[in-house]
Formats: sequence, structure tokens, C-alpha cells
Amino acid sequence: MVEILVLYYSRRGATAEMANLIARGVEGTPGACAKVRTVPDVSAVCEATKDAIPEQGPPYVTLDDLKSCDGFALGSPTHFGNMAAPLKYFIDNTSALWFEGALSGKPAGVFTATSSMHGGHETTLLSMMLPLLHHGMIVVGLPSRETALLETTSGGTPYGPSHHSGDDNPISEDEKALCRVLGARLAGIALALKDRGIK
Ligand SMILES: Cc1cc2nc3c(=O)[nH]c(=O)nc-3n(C[C@H](O)[C@H](O)[C@H](O)COP(=O)(O)O)c2cc1C
Repeated sequence: MVEILVLYYSRRGATAEMANLIARGVEGTPGACAKVRTVPDVSAVCEATKDAIPEQGPPYVTLDDLKSCDGFALGSPTHFGNMAAPLKYFIDNTSALWFEGALSGKPAGVFTATSSMHGGHETTLLSMMLPLLHHGMIVVGLPSRETALLETTSGGTPYGPSHHSGDDNPISEDEKALCRVLGARLAGIALALKDRGIK
């Protein structure tokens, strides 16, 4: 059995919906299960604290969730062409895992929701890959044999799934399909890599 951690931040729900579709793609792969987690907001008030368990949605991620997973999907809304601060804040606190090489050799993919069509889908996805590469993860995108990637008129990129959320656009069938493809690819690659000792 392999476990794929689907970690996201979402303010308005679009990235959360993508995370659940990716988890469905993982769960559709025999021998794979998904663990969905989120991160708390960050605050300008340094001493502010959140309840340990969010009022709704999945639990907050821990470093152990990252360490124990066999693969990883990281999702964020586009904030000024980049990933949102709460996710970056969490990642900036993963140095202990970096020192150990704990994530090295694990497959990882990225996804985003972006309100405008040309507002930063690809830049956000690429920026999210950088820390994963520093951790030695094997970055997985979407192959162009996927017809949804060729036919989409909204989100979806070779770098990972995206959703053009506009003014509350529903997620399109092509965008949904590409989320499930990422989940299934991560699961399949994690199964293929398991116990191969690749670091
Ligand atoms: C601080 C902030 C910055 C944003 N920057 C961008 C941007 O650069 N380009 C864009 O198209 N949308 C931008 N948006 C819109 C979000 O990317 C979009 O609404 C996204 O779907 C929200 O995802 P969520 O529902 O998971 O929170 C921004 C939103 C916020 C709050």
C-alpha cells in the first residue's frame, strides 16, 4: 500500500475542490490511499494561534505526515503569481526533513486555482516545484497524451492541473479529469518506486 499526501491551502474553496478530485484519482488506483491535509492561515500578529483542529475541512498537516507519505501533491491558489503565504510558511519550516533527506526520491506534483485565465497558472505551479526539487523529490507533471490537456479551454497545464476559477466558474470536466490524472499518476509512480531504494 502507498499513501499519497494531498496538501493544500484554500481561502474560497476552489483549490480544496481540486484536492478532493486528486485524492479521488489516488484512491482509484489499487494499492493506493490518499491523506488530505491543509495548513493554518498565517497572521501579521506573531503570537496569534489557531485552534489545533480546524472548524471544517481536513486536519492541519504535520511534518510526520510528509515524512511518512510515499508521494505528495501540493496545491495553492495563485496569489500574485505565486503560492499563498500559509503554504510557503509551512514549507519554510521543513528544514529538519531536508537535513535528513526524508523526502528525497518521493514523487510529487502541484496544482493551483487562479481567477484570471492569464493570471499566473504556470508561474504558480513552477514556483511550487522549486522547494520540492530542493527536497530531492521527483516532480511529476501531466503528459500530453491526456486529451483533456489538449482540449481544455480553461485550466490545465503540462506542469500540473489548474482551474480557471474566474468569478466562481465551476470546475470544468477537463480540469476535473486532469486532477484525477495527477492523483492516479502519483499513485502509480509511488507504487513503482516503492522499495526500490531510490533516494
Ligand atoms: C492575495 C490574493 C492574490 C491573488 N493573486 C492572483 C493572481 O496573481 N492572479 C489571479 O489570476 N488570481 C489571483 N487571485 C485570485 C485567486 O487565485 C483565485 O480566486 C483562486 O481561485 C482562489 O482559490 P481558493 O478558492 O482555493 O482560495 C488572488 C487572490 C488573493 C486573495
